[in-house]
Amino acid sequence: MLARVWSASLVGIDAMKVGVEVDIAGGLPAIVVVGLPDTAVQESKERVKAALKNAGYAFPMRRVVINLTPADLRKEGPSFDLPISMGILAASEQVNVQLLEQFILLGEVSLDGSLRAVAGVLAIAATAKQLGMRGIIVPTDNACEAALVQGLDVYGFQHLSEVADFLNHPDRYQPLQVDATQELARSPFTGLDLKDVKGQAQARRALEIAAAGGHNLVFVGPPGSGKTMLARRLPGILPPLSFEEALEVTQIHSVAGLLKERGSLVCDRPFRSPHHSASGPSLVGGGSFPRPGEISLAHRGVLFLDELTEFKRDVLEFLRQPLEDGCVTISRTRQSVAFPAQFTLVASTNPCPCGYFGDTVQACTCSPRGREQYWAKLSGPLMDRIDLQVAVNRLKPEEMIQQPKGEDSQTVRQRVQQARAVSQKRLQSEGLRCNAEMQSRHLRQWCQMDEATQALLEGAIRKLGLSARATDRILKVARTIADLTGEDSLQTVHVAEAIQYRTIDRMQ
Ligand SMILES: Nc1ncnc2c1ncn2[C@@H]1O[C@H](COP(=O)(O)OP(=O)(O)OP(=O)(O)O)[C@@H](O)[C@H]1O
Ligand SMILES: [Mg+2]
Repeated sequence: MLARVWSASLVGIDAMKVGVEVDIAGGLPAIVVVGLPDTAVQESKERVKAALKNAGYAFPMRRVVINLTPADLRKEGPSFDLPISMGILAASEQVNVQLLEQFILLGEVSLDGSLRAVAGVLAIAATAKQLGMRGIIVPTDNACEAALVQGLDVYGFQHLSEVADFLNHPDRYQPLQVDATQELARSPFTGLDLKDVKGQAQARRALEIAAAGGHNLVFVGPPGSGKTMLARRLPGILPPLSFEEALEVTQIHSVAGLLKERGSLVCDRPFRSPHHSASGPSLVGGGSFPRPGEISLAHRGVLFLDELTEFKRDVLEFLRQPLEDGCVTISRTRQSVAFPAQFTLVASTNPCPCGYFGDTVQACTCSPRGREQYWAKLSGPLMDRIDLQVAVNRLKPEEMIQQPKGEDSQTVRQRVQQARAVSQKRLQSEGLRCNAEMQSRHLRQWCQMDEATQALLEGAIRKLGLSARATDRILKVARTIADLTGEDSLQTVHVAEAIQYRTIDRMQ
C-alpha cells in the first residue's frame, strides 16, 4: 500500500514542504530511501526500524520504498525520522491516514521510539502556516517553539506511539496554546547593566549615541580599561525587541540549533562575540547546507569584535558587503540562500602593538613605524563603516576605588527610545530605520548647518585631514546627538561633540 506524510526541510532560514511517500510492495525485505537524502536521512531507516519494533509495532517484512519529494531538493538531518515512521505505519495500515494530509510532522526518533528535538522548528511552523496546513506535530521539546506561530495547531509528543495514538484518536488530544506576545512582555532584561561601569563618561555617552542612531563603534584604549565591559552593555540600552523582531531572531537561532532546550522566544537582543581566530564562513555563514554565521546570529543585536587587529584581514573583508546590505547571500552549487544580518558592530582594539600609546601612566614602547603598520591593518573599507571611534582611557585611581555612580541601562534606554522616535519621523518617509543608514542626499537635507558650525567643521577637516567619508560620518553622528536632545536643527555643540569621536583619525 502507498501512504504520504508531510514534512519540511530547511532552506536557509526558511523551509520547504517535503512529501514523504512510503510504498510497501512484494519482494525481499529491504528499505530504500530515494530523493536526495543525506547520510543522516539514510541512517534514518535503521533508527526507524529499531524504534518501531521496540515500540511494539509490526515492521513489514517486505520491500519498503521511501521517496522524498521534490526530488531535486537535498534533504538533510534526522528530522524525517518521525514522518518516515508514521508513513510506514500508515502504509501498513497500523495508523489512520485521514489526518496526515493536514499536518507537517518532524522529529528525530531514538531506538526506543522516544522523540528528540530538532533544529529549525520555528521556520518550519511558519511555513506550515503560510501553506495553510492545519497544524504541526513535533517532539515535546520543540512544541513551545512551534506554538510561537499563531493560528496553527501544535501537538507535542514524547514518543512515537503517542503520535500514532493521536492519528487514530485525535479527539483525545488538545493543541498547545502559548501566548508569545505575553512572554515577551513578561521577560525581564537578563543582560549586563551599565550601572556597574565606573567613570568612562565619554565611552558611555558614545554607547548611547551608537544605540540611538544605530552607529557602528570602535573602542580604542589600553588593556584593562574596560572596553570589553562597555561593549557587552550595548544590547541593554538598545530599544527592546518588538514581537516581529523577536520572531526573526528566534527563527535564526532555531535554524542554527542554538535555542535553549525548551526552545521559546528569544527576548533579548543578541550579543555575539566571535573569537579573533574565527574563519570567514563561521563569521558570515556557510557550509554545504548553508548555516547562519555570527553576523546573522547577531541580527537585530550586537556583533562584538574584541581585539579587532587580531582578526585576519581577509576575514574582516567578508564583513563589508553585509555591513552595507544588512544581509548575506551564500551561494552553493545546489542552492543560494540569503540570511538577514542587520547588526550594530562594536569593535575594540589597543591603540598600538604594546597597547599603551597615549596612556597617562605607562610609556608606549612601539616605534612610529610599528604603530603605522598596526593601523594600516585596520584602515580601509571596514573602518569606513564605523561612525564612532572612541578613546577609552584608563580609570583614575580615585575612580577605581569608588563605587560606580553612573546611570543604569534602563534610564539610558529611555533616552535612546525617545531619540529613535524623533529620528523615525524623519527617516520613515525614506524607508530608513536609523540615522546610520542615511546617505549623502539625506545628509544634505537633514544636516544643514549655520556658518559658525560650518567653519568649525571645516577647521576639523583641515586639522585632522578628514576624508569626505569621514566628514559624512561626523554629520550622521551629529544628527543623532541632536536627536538625543530633541533638537531639529544641527548646532555647533552637536558637530563639535561628533568631531571628538574620530580618535583614530586623530592618531594617524
Ligand atoms: N570602568 C570600569 N568600571 C568597573 N570595572 C572596570 C572598569 N574598567 C575595567 N574594569 C574591570 O576590569 C576588568 C577588565 O576590563 P575589560 O576586560 O573590559 O578591559 P579591556 O579594555 O577589554 O582590556 P583588554 O584590552 O585587555 O581586552 C573588567 O572585567 C572589570 O572588572
Ligand atoms: Mg577586552
